[in-house]
Amino acid sequence: MGRLARYTVLKWAVFGLVLAMPLQSMAEVSSDLVVRYLLATVHAFRTVYVENIMERVSQVGIQPKEEWMKDDHAIMLPFQFVKVAGQEMKSLVKNVDVGLVSLTPLYSANFPKTEAEVAALKQLMADPKLKVLTFTDGKVTKGLAADFAIEQSCVDCHNHHPNSIKKDLKNGDLMGAIVIRLRK
Ligand code: HEC
Repeated sequence: MGRLARYTVLKWAVFGLVLAMPLQSMAEVSSDLVVRYLLATVHAFRTVYVENIMERVSQVGIQPKEEWMKDDHAIMLPFQFVKVAGQEMKSLVKNVDVGLVSLTPLYSANFPKTEAEVAALKQLMADPKLKVLTFTDGKVTKGLAADFAIEQSCVDCHNHHPNSIKKDLKNGDLMGAIVIRLRK
C-alpha cells in the first residue's frame, strides 16, 4: 500500500471512530432513559393503586389478599398489580420484564436474579435517598426504583406472613425495589 493509500485508510478509520463514538453513547443513554421512564411509570401507577384504590376500598371492608380471586371482598396485592400489569405490557413490547425484588423476600422468586442485581439492591438499601439506580448487566439494561412501605398495611401484612424472614419492618422502611429488565 502506498503512502497516500495508507493515509486515506487511516483518515476514514478516524472518521468512522469519531462518528461511531457518539452513536454508541447515544444508544447507551437511550436504553438507560427508557428504563428510567418505565420505572417512573410503574412506580406512579403502583402508588396510585395503593394510595387511592386500596386505601379507598378498605373503608368498606375490602382488603388486598394473596388469594384475592377466591374472595369477593378482596382485591389484588400491590405486588400482583405490578406483576399482572407487567405481563400486560409484554403484549406490546416483548423485551421488557417488570417485577419486585427484595433481599429478604417472602418468596425466593423475588430475590434479585444476578450478582449485579444483588449489588445494586444492596447499594439502594444502604442509601435509600438514591431512589433510582440503573446499570448494565451483560446485554440487559436494568433499573431499580426504591419501594417504600408507604402504608401501615404493607408492614402489617409482610411482618405476619408465614414466610416472613424479616418481621420488624416499620412504616416508611425501604422494603425492596421495582425492577425493570430491558433486553437489547
Ligand atoms: C395483604 C398482604 C400484603 C400487603 C398489604 C402488601 N404486600 Fe407486599 N407482598 C405480599 C406477598 C404475599 C408478596 C409475594 C407475592 C408473590 O411473590 O406472588 C409480596 C411481595 C412484595 C415484594 C417483593 C419481595 C417479597 O417480599 O417477596 C415487595 C418489595 C413488597 N411486597 C412490598 C410491599 C409494599 C411496599 C406494600 C405496601 C404498599 C406491600 N408490599 C403490601 C403481601 C403483601
